[in-house]
Amino acid sequence: MNETAPTPPSRELLPRHIGIIMDGNGRWAAKRGLPRNMGHQEGAKTFGKIIRYARTLGIGAVTAYAFSTENWKRPKDEVDALMSLLRRYLGELEQHKDENARLCILGDRSPLSEELRRAIERAEEGSRNNTGITVNIALNYGGRDEIVHGARKLAEACVRGELRPEEIDEGHFSAALYTAGQPDPDVIIRPSGEMRLSNFMLWQSAYAELVFMHVLWPDFTPEHLNWALWEYTGRNRRFGGV
Ligand code: IPE
Ligand code: IPE
Ligand code: MG
Repeated sequence: MNETAPTPPSRELLPRHIGIIMDGNGRWAAKRGLPRNMGHQEGAKTFGKIIRYARTLGIGAVTAYAFSTENWKRPKDEVDALMSLLRRYLGELEQHKDENARLCILGDRSPLSEELRRAIERAEEGSRNNTGITVNIALNYGGRDEIVHGARKLAEACVRGELRPEEIDEGHFSAALYTAGQPDPDVIIRPSGEMRLSNFMLWQSAYAELVFMHVLWPDFTPEHLNWALWEYTGRNRRFGGV
């Protein structure tokens, strides 16, 4: 199946915010008789390349699903390898200097190691004023977990007397999520052949166009992104209207 295109659609048609469910690392490795962790290493390289390409296209924000609240179910050595890969990535943000990327980590940080939490804070702090592209990494992220956390924040504000329950609207709710202040994704791309969200951006995906592809994430190239963007521009977004 050819899921590539040599060039992207013209700039004014491009989405502002792209969500990517980076899936298929394990199968990529298995196909080559390699350990799953090698697939994750390749996937991390792909991530760097795609962010660089998205920046050249002028995309405003990319949110990449790196570790879900359900991924703790995996064998300990795989979880450990993923965490150390993420720590290394955050420590090497210099590599995104040219992209002028602002980094935000979405998800519940409380169960992460102190070392990883510190790396997150440093990366966010150090890139806070960058304006090239916003890169959100969803790490220990779950859409349901995010909604529960948001509901709790709003309830606490009510208890403190800062907000009345009848005042709560979609705006308050959006502002209580990890993505506060960011536009919803226009398109969510999932490689690897699976056709589900797996708890990714449940609130924010309300009107996202979903693009499912067969390519495995480590094999994903800028030409695959072009193809997904053409697919997106071909959709008729009605938002409930006519
Ligand atoms: C995605 O690849 C990476 C993470 C979920 C961390 P997978 O590891 O899920 O790869 P498959 O789905 O087993 O091929
Ligand atoms: C979703 O992929 C999570 C990430 C890509 C980080 P999974 O591989 O964990 O999802 P399922 O288990 O196939 O639904
Ligand atoms: Mg998977």
